[in-house]
Amino acid sequence: MTNPVYFLALESSCDETAAAVFTDDRRILSNVVASQTELHARFGGVVPEIASRAHLRNLLPVIDESLRQANIRLEQIGCVVVHNMPGLVGSLMMGVSAAKILSLALNVPLIAVNHILGHIYACQIPDSRPMYPCIGFVVSGGHTALFHCQDPLTVQFLGGTRDDAAGEAFDKVAAILGLGFPGGPNLEKEAQKGDPNAYQFPRTFLKEDRLEFSFSGIKTAVLYTAQGQDAKISEKIGSGPTRANIAASFQRAVVEVLVSKAIQAVKKFRVNRLAVGGGVIANQAFRQLLIQECNKYGIELFIPPRDLCTDNAAMAALAIEKYKQGDFANLSLDAEANFI
Ligand code: KG4
Ligand code: ZN
Repeated sequence: MTNPVYFLALESSCDETAAAVFTDDRRILSNVVASQTELHARFGGVVPEIASRAHLRNLLPVIDESLRQANIRLEQIGCVVVHNMPGLVGSLMMGVSAAKILSLALNVPLIAVNHILGHIYACQIPDSRPMYPCIGFVVSGGHTALFHCQDPLTVQFLGGTRDDAAGEAFDKVAAILGLGFPGGPNLEKEAQKGDPNAYQFPRTFLKEDRLEFSFSGIKTAVLYTAQGQDAKISEKIGSGPTRANIAASFQRAVVEVLVSKAIQAVKKFRVNRLAVGGGVIANQAFRQLLIQECNKYGIELFIPPRDLCTDNAAMAALAIEKYKQGDFANLSLDAEANFI
């Protein structure tokens, strides 16, 4: 039996500083995430400068903790991995710089992973069923995007959002409803108390034969419903049944569009497998409707366990596929804001 290769992976694309240790046979030995939510909460969103500085402070303790939990010494690491795109460039630079230094000091290869493809690959990490070819669907705070994935690294972009990402819409609607930051999980909790059929919010492009999304219209519709046509912020909606009904109806409309477009893509490309990643797939209503519709159409569904949905470094296990191909980065590696 040969010794496993130990990978140390770093994630710093937005407001989570994360490190993970995994082996070349996809065993996750540790997956440590330091969230910056509290730092950004009082601004109602992520402040890039604050995020970069927090990554700088958090990276070394998070790396130490990931090695400790994996019970691995730094010298045993055989490959360093980092998400270098997409995201906030200042934040990404922190992880990229740390990864370069580690690979240089340890004299081991460096691998760059696209965070978006990592979100799709996260579905495969604990699941041994063959997942490719499939439709990959990333629904996060920064992206709502469909891909045709021939294999983990051969991927074609099919379409995405024309404006806000779905997670961003959850966050903004949560802010309108006074539910605080981060919005997605808070809005889900509020929605559980409400009636999803109380309001008929717009389902943009739902009936159209196009693999695109738009969530700015529903955001405005919620604003007017909650605060009247003149959207006076001072007339904040209270915490009564109306708020829960708006939250539930908003969630229902967004989830219906997401599921319907994903099924449309699967049918169009006749792949019969769907892998959905990104923070929004932590949402229970979204998961339930996906499971129901995939069962109905006989589509094999792959979704990650909750701890692999939101940003983390274990999802960079996609690097194992690059390692097998000898697809290494060098010290000129840069951070990129966009994914294509
Ligand atoms: O993938 P992720 O952690 O970061 C990005 O790459 O963007 O996704 C974060 C997004 C946020 O917009 C957050 O509000 C949303 O995922 N989110 C949720 C839930 N948990 C996280 N949205 C709806 N329901 C949830 N339970
Ligand atoms: Zn993400």
